Amino acid sequence: MTSDLRGRPLWERAQRVMPGGVSSNVKMDESPYPLFFTRAEGSRLTDADGNEYVDYTCGYGPVILGHAYPSVVQAVQRAAAKGFIYGGQHEGEVLLAERLAAAVPCIEMVRYCSTGSEAVAAAVRLARAYTRRKNLVRFAGHYHGWLDEQLVSSHPTAQTDVLPQAESEGQIPTATDHVLVTRWNDAPGLERLLVTRGRDVAAILMEPIMCNSGVIMPAPGYLAQVRKLCTQHGVVLIFDEVITGFRVHMGGAQALLNVTPDLAVFGKALANGFPLSCVGGSRKIMDLITSGRVVHAGTFNGNPLGVAAALATLEELGRNNGAAFARLTALGQRLMEGIRRTAVARKIPLLVQGPGPVFYAWLTDASVITDYESSARVDRAPYSRFSAALLEHGVRVIPGGRWYVSLSHSEEEIDRTCEAVGHALDVVAGGAELLAADGRGS
Ligand SMILES: Cc1ncc(COP(=O)(O)O)c(C=O)c1O
Repeated sequence: MTSDLRGRPLWERAQRVMPGGVSSNVKMDESPYPLFFTRAEGSRLTDADGNEYVDYTCGYGPVILGHAYPSVVQAVQRAAAKGFIYGGQHEGEVLLAERLAAAVPCIEMVRYCSTGSEAVAAAVRLARAYTRRKNLVRFAGHYHGWLDEQLVSSHPTAQTDVLPQAESEGQIPTATDHVLVTRWNDAPGLERLLVTRGRDVAAILMEPIMCNSGVIMPAPGYLAQVRKLCTQHGVVLIFDEVITGFRVHMGGAQALLNVTPDLAVFGKALANGFPLSCVGGSRKIMDLITSGRVVHAGTFNGNPLGVAAALATLEELGRNNGAAFARLTALGQRLMEGIRRTAVARKIPLLVQGPGPVFYAWLTDASVITDYESSARVDRAPYSRFSAALLEHGVRVIPGGRWYVSLSHSEEEIDRTCEAVGHALDVVAGGAELLAADGRGS
């Protein structure tokens, strides 16, 4: 379906003036080359060559209602007509903070930022100031942003509890000095770490549902146990809800799973695609900003356009007592079940798992994946061929394996997507047979 009319020349031009021809490294992974788009509407994307795709990237998570969702467009247009930035406060910020506090269990106060990475950095600074301790505990396979201390062992090649690894050249050599990395979903392991190092630990930072290395639910009782350990050891519990926030439940994963952290970070779906994020949590911690002990700033924080988009998004999501999340879950689960059935009919080993609004697919014969190591061991090359083949059949997914649905997807579209999945799986299986016949596959 993709032709080389405009997309490829654009990418070639882009590479001369933009590193990798893209604006974020992760976008370099798309095969056959990073696509360029001219339009996004509802569940659909149109590329520079006029090809249309059903979109399950959802902007890598933010698009929860659908692209160019009319009430969000109107709210942003109305706000834009009144100015983009005031260099001062406006009522929308207060309204949104009140709404966030009403919806999210841990939030008594919030501060806005523009991206998830920034909001995570603010949360960690608050935790260090509050506890007057230095160390941050995080988990292998969880991603929290690209800043120096965040890009530590998100995707380690060797699993280790003692040697956090920086992931990019140019990170300050001390970036790993105050980061302890351990296994997620392993409460006894965390307890051992806290017993020996707890007095130096300011915060435990985690995705409450691990979405960045497979979509993996916390084991039953795990989050409650972590909560208990944090309270026992005087450690601030931070949930990074940049993906799960306003995607799995109106109150985030913390409401879905009934465990309340001290601080939480939201981004992505908060404003249906506008760059707006926030850190929120208990008053006693957030008040460190009020007193001036903790510095937090940002030219674009709380900008009227992002806030207008967020208010309109939360208005839609909050209608009918959570009906939006029931629908998102039903749509996601229908798609997961359809993909599963399509693979079974072809005897292709494929695993899909996740709550529904976000889920993950691996080409593996494992029946469930509960940890980072097992997810990282799965060979990604066949999946990459699968996602490229899906593109040929008018379906765009994230090449890594994560799928997102929005409220603009329809049942009919999902059922047609499953047909495309069948064609793409045939391509992958055909490729495997060719390799085997060649003797290259063994
Ligand atoms: C869980 C999580 N936290 C933080 C971030 C960083 O957010 P941003 O890309 O907006 O800086 C991401 C980005 O994907 C994420 O998935």
